[in-house]
Amino acid sequence: MFHIFNIDPQDFFAGSEDFLAEGVALLPEPLLEIAPASYADLEEIYQLESEIEGPDGADLVSLMARWRMFGAGFLTARQGGQLLGYIETCLWDCQLPHFEARPDFFTSRHRLGAANLYIIFLGVAADYRRQGVASSLLAAVSRVGWRYGARRLQAVSRSHIVPLYEAAGFLPVAAMPGFLPEPGTDFMLMERPFL
Ligand SMILES: CC(C)(COP(=O)(O)OP(=O)(O)OC[C@H]1O[C@@H](n2cnc3c(N)ncnc32)[C@H](O)[C@@H]1OP(=O)(O)O)[C@@H](O)C(=O)NCCC(=O)NCCS
Repeated sequence: MFHIFNIDPQDFFAGSEDFLAEGVALLPEPLLEIAPASYADLEEIYQLESEIEGPDGADLVSLMARWRMFGAGFLTARQGGQLLGYIETCLWDCQLPHFEARPDFFTSRHRLGAANLYIIFLGVAADYRRQGVASSLLAAVSRVGWRYGARRLQAVSRSHIVPLYEAAGFLPVAAMPGFLPEPGTDFMLMERPFL
C-alpha cells in the first residue's frame, strides 16, 4: 500500500516542515506523489490512456482540452517519477450524465461553481493495480471538489468496478444502460455527497 506524500502536506501536518521531512525519512514503503497534471504530463498520460482503453481511449487533443478546461481537477499519481495513474474531472450540474463521443462534450458542460464534480476517467497502469493508487486519487480529487464548492462527487462505473467506489464512500444512484457502447458491460451512476 502506498503512502500519499504530497497532497497539501501543510493541511495534513499543520505546517511543520521538520516533522514532514522526518516522517518521510521514516516511511518504509514507496511514496505516491499526487499532483495536478502539467501540460508536459499530457503526452505520457495519453500513452497510459491508450494502454488502458486501447482505441476507445481519449486522443491527445481531447486530453489537452480537458486539462485546459479544469487543470486543478486533473491529477496524476507518480512513484519515483513514473506515472502510475491519473484522474480527470469536470464540474457540472448534470444529474444523470450520459456520454456522447463529441470532442467538446465535457468542455461545453464544465462550469465553475457547479454542484457536481464528475469523474471523466480514472485509470491505473496494469502493473500497479490493487495497491491503492485509484483510492488515493479519489481521496485527492475529493479535496479538489470540496475546495471548489461541489456538493457531490459523481462517477459512472463499470459494474465490476463498483466496489472501488463503494470503498471510497460512493453510493449507487442509477443504472446507466448503454452509457458506453461496450457489449456485455453494465454501468452504474455512483455518487458521494460531501458532508
Ligand atoms: C479500476 C482501476 C482504476 C482501479 O485502480 P486500483 O489502483 O487497482 O484500485 P485500488 O487499488 O485503489 O482498489 C481499491 C479497492 O477497490 C476495489 N477494486 C479495485 N479494482 C477492482 C476490480 N478490478 N474489481 C473489483 N474490485 C476492485 C477493491 O475493493 C480494492 O480493494 P482490494 O484491492 O483491497 O480488494 C484500475 O483497475 C483501472 O485502471 N482499470 C481500467 C480502467 C477503468 O475501468 N477505470 C474506471 C472507470 S472510469
